[in-house]
Formats: sequence, structure tokens, C-alpha cells
Amino acid sequence: VEISTYFSTSLCLIRCVSAAPHPHHPDAHKNHFTLLCCPPPPFPSAHCFPPHPPPWSPYLSFSHSQTTTHRDPCSSFYMHLIRSDARGTRFFWTLLPFYTESCSASLKCDRVIDRFTYEIAPVFVLMEQLTLKKMREMIGWPAGEGDGLFSPGGAISNMYSVMIARYKYFPEVKTKGMSAAPRLVLFTSEHSHYSIKKAGAALGFGTDNVILLSTDERGRVIPADLEAKILDVKQKGYVPLFVNATAGSTVYGAFDPINEIADICEKYNLWLHVDGAWGGGLLMSRKHRHKLNGVERANSVTWNPHKMMGVPLQCSAILVREKGILAGCNSMCAGYLFQPDKQYDVTYDTGDKAIQCGRHVDIFKFWLMWKAKGTIGFEQHIDKCLDLSQYLYNKINNREGFQMVFDGPQHTNVCFWYIPPSLRGMSDSEERREKLHRVAPKIKAMMMESGTTMVGYQPQGNKVNFFRMVVSNAAVTQSDIDFLVDEIERLGQDL
Ligand SMILES: Cc1ncc(COP(=O)(O)O)c(C=O)c1O
Repeated sequence: VEISTYFSTSLCLIRCVSAAPHPHHPDAHKNHFTLLCCPPPPFPSAHCFPPHPPPWSPYLSFSHSQTTTHRDPCSSFYMHLIRSDARGTRFFWTLLPFYTESCSASLKCDRVIDRFTYEIAPVFVLMEQLTLKKMREMIGWPAGEGDGLFSPGGAISNMYSVMIARYKYFPEVKTKGMSAAPRLVLFTSEHSHYSIKKAGAALGFGTDNVILLSTDERGRVIPADLEAKILDVKQKGYVPLFVNATAGSTVYGAFDPINEIADICEKYNLWLHVDGAWGGGLLMSRKHRHKLNGVERANSVTWNPHKMMGVPLQCSAILVREKGILAGCNSMCAGYLFQPDKQYDVTYDTGDKAIQCGRHVDIFKFWLMWKAKGTIGFEQHIDKCLDLSQYLYNKINNREGFQMVFDGPQHTNVCFWYIPPSLRGMSDSEERREKLHRVAPKIKAMMMESGTTMVGYQPQGNKVNFFRMVVSNAAVTQSDIDFLVDEIERLGQDL
């Protein structure tokens, strides 16, 4: 596939031409798939930029054309790329990173794919704004109002949330540093992603001021523990600032009770962040979105399309309920980029809200996938992955040699121990725990050596190593799951 890219300040035209004949349709090389993106002119026509707004509909649109006589097979070849059937989607996803990377390569000009100003990347700026608004609508913020950015990953999105929380309550830290603030404390679950602690270290709070909250047997924060720890911190004279609730924890796939946590945050006037890096995708599913009930009460949300939704790395959004706070927190107004006297509406120069300068175009592949699959396509993807996890759970729950870490998956995370025959009759003891701790790493090593499959494992709290199976690829089938279970039994039977 040869990709030609034409950019101007007003128009992005990407032409995808097959250079070699399609194996089954020799004339397919004459076909091309064209993507037209036209930004709506957001300013009065007298000082219009771009100077001659194209007369197209003010939204971004696809078009597909072909020049061959063999219409059907050829059109289906390229439309395959954007269909949601398993094969086509897989091919499409495989192609996409190449596709977007190719855009930058063929342009031979990295600057064009940076997005700090509207004049440099109008199409991508608008794609980003449009998509973030749609995501905020799905969170439930009225009319999708608010703010946001795509960032280099969930860890960085979480860091943004801590930065803006601090700016909200102690804006003087931006200029005077941490000495202008009292001792500030962050709260997050003992099951939460380590990026909250890392943000605490990187931003000068110190990891001692990141307090871990106790969880129930399913890995969900216990709200009473949060309130007790807030009171304890206040009694010591420190200032509670920020609470992170996880929607889909990394290991258990647990969803913290957002509504109850939000009640406590409102009572003590704390910033509520929801880390939906892993579980945010469930907002696309009418069947599963209730697991994030209360997310609309959050001040900020991390949502990684590059996890559960299958968008190629990297694609993570930080979404913020209050408009303008990202700019207030981060903007430095560099005079050589963000001139206030440009001839267009400079609120479209979104780059200064980021902690980076140039940014990679993460939005393009996500926007393209959303256009191709639709919200319903993402919903089917999510529902299928969760169904497969339930299938795995049902298959191994009560099966000889398997023991579940918790009852019933909340997300696609299914956590379990494989107990080899040699350990099955043994009563619980330190010796058995030590032996069981070594089982998952050994089976995984054998899987890798035989090149059959791979599945993650880890200890958690006082629990010895257990397997954690997650499904985020909707092309997985029940027979893949059957194979995984058989493979674990085959490799583990003599341990
Ligand atoms: C709950 C949660 N938050 C944040 C992250 C970090 O995301 P990223 O790898 O995109 O930085 C992860 C990664 O596994 C995660 O599971």
C-alpha cells in the first residue's frame, strides 16, 4: 500500500493506493481510498483563516473512490479496512500505526504533525477537540463541556490530574513552588496503578504523602477507610487534596464505588479523579457502563483508548470538568508560538495546555477507528471481551486444579491459581505457599519456551503469584480460551 499525503492548512487529504495487485483481484491497484478532513472555519469570514474555507460540510468525512472496472471486489478490499468484522478490523488495526506514521514520514516534516498551534495542524486540533467532547459527553458532563488533552499514556494523564488539582487549590505553586503550599496529601487505593505514587514523587509531594486506601476482597476501595484517613491527616495538620478512584484496576479489574467516594470528596472539598485508563472503555457499552456510575461527579478522568478499546499505542486522554484549568495550570505563553494577536481565534492553539511542546498525533488513529467502527462497534468489542472473560471464569471456576482469586470478574481480568496435582492434597502451610508461588512463573516460562502463548502473573498483597488473564482483543475466540486452559494443565501437571 502506498500512501500519499497532502496537507495544507485547511485540508488533509490522504490517498491510499495499492501499488501491488491484490492477490485475488489483480485490478485492485487502481483503487484508492481517500480520506478528506476539512476543518470548519471557527472565525468570522472577514478575517478568515484559512483564507478560503472549502465549501464542504463542517465535519470531518470519509470518501472512497475507485477507478477500476471491477467494482465489487475492489471496493470491498479497501472497505475491509474500516469494517468491524474480526478479520477486517485486525487488518485495519495492524495497518493504522503504519498509516499514521507514514503520514509523518512522507511529509518529511515532523512539525506538521505536532499540534501546538491551529495554524500548524488544524485538522488534528479539530479532530482532538471533537473527540474529547464526545468522550466528555459519554462521561456525562453536560453538553460535553470541559477540557482535555491526549497525553502520552495513562501514567501521564494521571499526573496531569494531580497537577491540576494542586493548581485548583494552590495556584501559587505554579510560580512559587511547593514551599507556597502546606503539606498536601493524595489518597489512592492499595490496588491502584503505581503512577499515582510516581506523580506524587515527580511533582514534589513525596511518596510518604500518597496514602494507600484499604480495599475489600474484590479490590474495591472501602469508603469508610478513606474518610478515616482524611480525618487522620487533618488531625495531623496536613491538607488532604486529591482522591483517585480507579475504574478498572490493573490486576483485579476492580471498580471503586465512585458515588460513595464522591460524597466524601464533596464533604471535605477534595479533588476527585477517576483513573479509567483500563476501565474507561466500558463507557461505550450500555451493558457495562453502570460499573462507572458516578463518574460524572469526577473533576477529572483518565481514559486510555489504547487499552480496552484496542487503539494502537499511544492513545490516552485526560478529561477535565472545569474549562480553562489546564491552560491556567500549564500555559507559559511562549511568544514565538502562542502570539495572542494572530488573525484567528487563538483558543484553538491548544498546545500550551500540555506539559510537552510538540506532541505526537495520537488522535488520528482513534478518530479513524471511531468513524470506522462507530460507538456500536466499540460496544460490541467491549461486550465480546467481557463475555469471553466470563466464559473463562465459568470454565475454570470449580474445575479441578484451579482456584479463583475472587468471585466473578468485574472487568476482563480473571485471576486464578493453577494448583498442580502434587500440591492438591497438601494443607495450607508456608511450604505450600512457597511452592505455589513458583508455579505461575514456571508455567509462563514453559509457555514462552514452547512459543505457544503468554499470560501474566503477579503476587498481590499477601497472595502468592497467581495468573491474571485479560482479554482486550475482540478477535480472541472461545477456542483460544480453551487452548489456554489446556496449555496450563499440560505444562503444569508435573510440577
Ligand atoms: C489502572 C491503570 N492506570 C494507569 C495505567 C498506566 O497507563 P499507561 O501504560 O498508558 O501509562 C495503567 C496501565 O496498566 C492502569 O492499569
